[in-house]
Amino acid sequence: MENRITLLRQGRLQPGQGLVFGTHRPHPVERIHFDIDQYVAAYRVGRKPDGSPYRYHIRTYGCQMNEHDTEVMAGLLEAMGYEATDAVEEADFILFNTCAVRENAEDKVFGEIGRLRPLKMQNPQLLLGLCGCMAQEQGVQRLVREKFPWVDLVFGTHNIHRLPELLTRARESQETVMEVWDRAAMTIEDMPKVRKDRVRAWVNIQYGCNKFCTYCIVPYTRGAERSRLPEDVVREVEALAAEGYREVTLLGQNVNDYGIDIGVTFADLLRRINRVPGIERIRFTTSNPWNFTDDLIAAIAECEHVVEHIHLPVQSGNSQILKRMNRTHTREFYLALVDKIRRAIPGVSLTTDIIVGFPGETEAQFQDTLSLVREVEFDNAFTFIYSPRENTPAANFPDDVPLEEKKDRLRRLNELQAEISLRRNQQLAGRTVEVLVEGESKTNRHVFAGRTRTNKLVLFQGEKRFVGQLLPVKVTEAQTWLLKGELVREEVAVS
Ligand code: 5AD
Ligand code: SF4
Repeated sequence: MENRITLLRQGRLQPGQGLVFGTHRPHPVERIHFDIDQYVAAYRVGRKPDGSPYRYHIRTYGCQMNEHDTEVMAGLLEAMGYEATDAVEEADFILFNTCAVRENAEDKVFGEIGRLRPLKMQNPQLLLGLCGCMAQEQGVQRLVREKFPWVDLVFGTHNIHRLPELLTRARESQETVMEVWDRAAMTIEDMPKVRKDRVRAWVNIQYGCNKFCTYCIVPYTRGAERSRLPEDVVREVEALAAEGYREVTLLGQNVNDYGIDIGVTFADLLRRINRVPGIERIRFTTSNPWNFTDDLIAAIAECEHVVEHIHLPVQSGNSQILKRMNRTHTREFYLALVDKIRRAIPGVSLTTDIIVGFPGETEAQFQDTLSLVREVEFDNAFTFIYSPRENTPAANFPDDVPLEEKKDRLRRLNELQAEISLRRNQQLAGRTVEVLVEGESKTNRHVFAGRTRTNKLVLFQGEKRFVGQLLPVKVTEAQTWLLKGELVREEVAVS
């Protein structure tokens, strides 16, 4: 009888079908429990003829979501028998996990793929792959076909779990294997992961975005919002705690919309995760000012493990620009929300994303952004020049602002934010902060790095055994992007 694996290998089984284990819930978004052992068994590569292992190298661009997808793909590849390598020359498979949010990230990837051509010519066994948000763009698929035919494999954000099969097909095929699903109506549980860090872990809670900000490509590359079930998220966090992880970062494009599709709330998810023993810090990103409810603010304030840091992208300080961005919040709404958050969560640190040079942005409208930044006093801001993205509405908006002017606005904004960041850091000088120790500095032995609950980087003299501990550190020097400090007591972990 033909089994599932045979059907899968022959491409006669619909992707995802036959991988369902455990309970199947009646829900429009299909929940699939991935049985890695069964699935990957068919694609284990073994050793190369010379006895050495197959090696992979993944280059990751863009956001934390992508970083975490890379951890999943590393998990799939290692289950196939591949081993990681940092050296591209040693790799049998080089994969670009790409970002499509701005054009310069795309240009970098194509530049890198171009530079790898000689390596590919020298070693025909080497496979090159492209995945992530760029792969979802039709223009990119066309470009790969026409200009980069030495790319062996292209797959999208919705079919990452199919990597073992696609890679196997690419090894056997004369042509570029391309499989990009244009939408996803499922979430997949129990994917294997090779996590980069031993102290802090990323946990997806939601995929996709329904917001359709007019400049943004993400709703097209990541599809509609889908939430994981709270019990699946909590189970993953419990497993992480059992492995010794101390911090989780909950990931989604709009975490505060988490659960709308399944009748639960993000606030309640935070309360549940807050009860998982062993997890000392709970972070989340990204939030949207819209639907940042009073109950959510209350949950952040009351849950002792949820940190006092909110990344709350504003994008612009001018309500007309915000309207043309389809951001659903105004300047006044944002300022009122910040006020409410600051009153409920003392000491909260706020960071943001800002786009300058949106099509038609006037100097006066840009001044509104500067004044909002002055008024809010963000701890940090990620600032970008608007980059037109194919097939997004804003790409067709008339734009009469010269690039030089946009660059100048970015410079002025960055100067202002640097002043504010320094001032806010200086407020911590002489104070003792709780630091979760992440690891030793790569360049300076005995210098260790960690973060405060408010996500500020702290450097201090330490020892390897401190990694993973919460320690009190007295801030001795405040710089714009980091703090320097001294350990107060090494043996007592604070909470
Ligand atoms: N151009 C410039 N910046 C963009 N972002 C998203 N799309 C664009 C674009 N087309 C920025 C937004 C978002 C962050 C992740 O990237 O500020 O919050
Ligand atoms: Fe893009 Fe807006 Fe969705 Fe954020 S909320 S991913 S900026 S469309």
